[in-house]
Amino acid sequence: MSTHTIIEPFKIKSVEPIHWTTRAERERRLAAAHYNLFLLPAADVLIDLLTDSGTGAMSTRQWAAMMEGDESYAGSRSFDQLREVVQGIFGYKHVIPTHQGRAAERILFHVMCKKGDVVPNNTHFDTTRANIEFTGAEAVDLPVHEALNPSSPHPFKGNMDLARLEALIVRAGREHVPLVMLTVTNNSGGGQPVSMENARAVSALCRNYGIPLYFDACRFAENAYLIKLREPGYASKMPKAIAQEMFALGDGCTMSAKKDGLANIGGFLCTNDDSLAQQEKDLLILTEGYPTYGGMAGRDLTAIAVGLEEALDEDYLRYRIVSTAYLGNHISEKGVPIVQPPGGHAIYLDARAFLPHIPPAQFPGVALADELYLEGGIRSVEIGTLMFADAAKMDLVRLAIPRRVYTQSHIDYVIEVILEVWKRREKIRGLKLSYQAPFLRHFTARFEPIL
Ligand SMILES: Cc1ncc(COP(=O)(O)O)c(C=O)c1O
Repeated sequence: MSTHTIIEPFKIKSVEPIHWTTRAERERRLAAAHYNLFLLPAADVLIDLLTDSGTGAMSTRQWAAMMEGDESYAGSRSFDQLREVVQGIFGYKHVIPTHQGRAAERILFHVMCKKGDVVPNNTHFDTTRANIEFTGAEAVDLPVHEALNPSSPHPFKGNMDLARLEALIVRAGREHVPLVMLTVTNNSGGGQPVSMENARAVSALCRNYGIPLYFDACRFAENAYLIKLREPGYASKMPKAIAQEMFALGDGCTMSAKKDGLANIGGFLCTNDDSLAQQEKDLLILTEGYPTYGGMAGRDLTAIAVGLEEALDEDYLRYRIVSTAYLGNHISEKGVPIVQPPGGHAIYLDARAFLPHIPPAQFPGVALADELYLEGGIRSVEIGTLMFADAAKMDLVRLAIPRRVYTQSHIDYVIEVILEVWKRREKIRGLKLSYQAPFLRHFTARFEPIL
């Protein structure tokens, strides 16, 4: 083909109106939400880039499959369908459905971790870290050093630092490292992929020490496609084959199907270990539901079964990765500091570089996210000092792109808004915390502006 434009590979069949607010209205609503965008009603948001989790648009095939959902409590046909698809991609023996990713995490860590243990990851996501800490174990981030330099164009900034991993295992003692995790892609670290080479090396090290390797697989399809684009030897491979190769290096995974499951709710936990699977299913029955639905409706199971295959479609993945890069490249060429290179599901503004006059203790990421809302009704999320407190190495603002939801003109509008805020960045002020919860404080924190 001689055309260069990569278009959305779908037609829109159902639309949901979005509404403008005035700047004065947004000022009032932001103050009423205590300057925390999580506390805003969604109706007051024009373009919602808070998260790519559960916010995607389902396909006609998914909606049709939902009508076939088997709502039987035990032995649901829809679970068999999901298990077959999951085993075809992930290859693990046991598939345990959960209502979303963090439920899979809670069950996994409850069964595997105890006080005094250490769980290494390239970078733990907020719920992963919190669920590990809830068991009394310690969650340790071991990203490669390039991951901490937002402007480094390294193609695999999701990689784990092998030398630090081995040093940690030796220092803690193998018996205190119940599992190692690799998050693909690395969400808290800028949506950056993990290379097959790195996954292979982490797997070899884990096998050497007899430690199970688990993937946090939320964005496995995007990670597979970024391997295809960036890693030598993978250009002609199908994303599904790349994903299969990666999962064969591990012993299990946690999955939030709200991302690359292209579903609005759901998740699962996989393992090859029969004894762990039994304990996990027992706990599942206590808190999530019977092991053939695990907190989901039968129709949700079918939507995920179809969505997992659609997420691996090459046309879809090309559009997904190119459209995310479109946003990143257009703002970075005007000087806006972002985490480079653009990742799979989101563009991350580097708030410390955007607002160098606001120290981390005054939440530059929250201040920047608030300004994007005030300027153009855009909702984003801080990933930094608010989310991770002292563990934060960067202050980022994540602009997560819901799957198959916004068109290029929506993104052109987002670009305009960011560039307006960039022009008046020196006038932006920091914030101080007025309330925080003991866990996952970013969801409910309240702020006051520093005048
Ligand atoms: C990398 C990663 N792990 C785990 C989760 C938790 O998944 P859920 O929101 O479905 O509980 C998320 C959600 O954003 C995530 O990005």
